Amino acid sequence: MTTLIFGATGGVGAALARRLVDRDVVVHLAGRDAAKLAALHDELGSPTSVCDVLDDEQIAAAVEAAGPDLSGLAFCVGSIDLAPLRRVDRDLVRKSVELNAVSAAMALKAAESALKKNSGSAVLFSSVAVAQGFAQHAAISAAKGAVEGLVRAVAAEWAPKARVNAIAPSLMKTGIAEPMTANEAVADGIAKMHPMARLGEANDAAALADFLLSEDAGWICGEVFAVDGGRGRVRSRG
Ligand SMILES: NC(=O)c1ccc[n+]([C@@H]2O[C@H](COP(=O)([O-])OP(=O)(O)OC[C@H]3O[C@@H](n4cnc5c(N)ncnc54)[C@H](OP(=O)(O)O)[C@@H]3O)[C@@H](O)[C@H]2O)c1
Repeated sequence: MTTLIFGATGGVGAALARRLVDRDVVVHLAGRDAAKLAALHDELGSPTSVCDVLDDEQIAAAVEAAGPDLSGLAFCVGSIDLAPLRRVDRDLVRKSVELNAVSAAMALKAAESALKKNSGSAVLFSSVAVAQGFAQHAAISAAKGAVEGLVRAVAAEWAPKARVNAIAPSLMKTGIAEPMTANEAVADGIAKMHPMARLGEANDAAALADFLLSEDAGWICGEVFAVDGGRGRVRSRG
């Protein structure tokens, strides 16, 4: 059985690929940057597809290349487009929704028949900024809220043949978070807003994605799980 990772060259995507390869799962790596993909291929030995998820033909080609044994799909692509609402225009909302939700929907659609045939599992990514309101998050929260609706609808449509779930992280030290984590003082301030008193690492989310893709998660369907150091539910003492 094979797991296809979209956004495999990102922080969470690469951490997930390493975990899956460690437990001998066959992985197919999809990413938009050929050079980064080649480096990950050199490290893990897994086959790759160059894939910009804004292009449905490239999504279809990656699913095809992953082969008929496709039973896992992780959509680890995303953005954090921050702006106060007064500076948000249609283009910014569309851009966020297009990348995070529309492309995730097209990836699920492309993989549907293989995942259903192989009792598969798909994992998408939301954000803590859906369950909890944060200033400047209008565009990305709208997009990730759409991801959560997508997960529940497709989970209903696919059950009992395949499962779909999502992970909703708070700020993790990966590429998209760099504008917020590059400055140490700012990063420390945000870390203190988390009851667990640190920012997330890619592996915090990858560990749960790894579990949700596994057969041990076979009775988990249509859920959205916070991986957020307690930020969404627990009052911080700091
Ligand atoms: N990190 C956080 O603080 C945080 C918080 C909440 C939610 N999330 C979500 O967690 C998931 C994993 O993100 P991450 O933390 O691992 O961030 P990351 O390291 O920046 O990874 C994001 C990935 O998306 C890829 N990507 C962006 N646009 C693409 C496109 N058009 N086609 C194909 N790939 C594209 C990037 O490709 P390149 O490698 O080529 O740049 C990168 O691999 C995302 O859905 C993100 O929205 C993250």
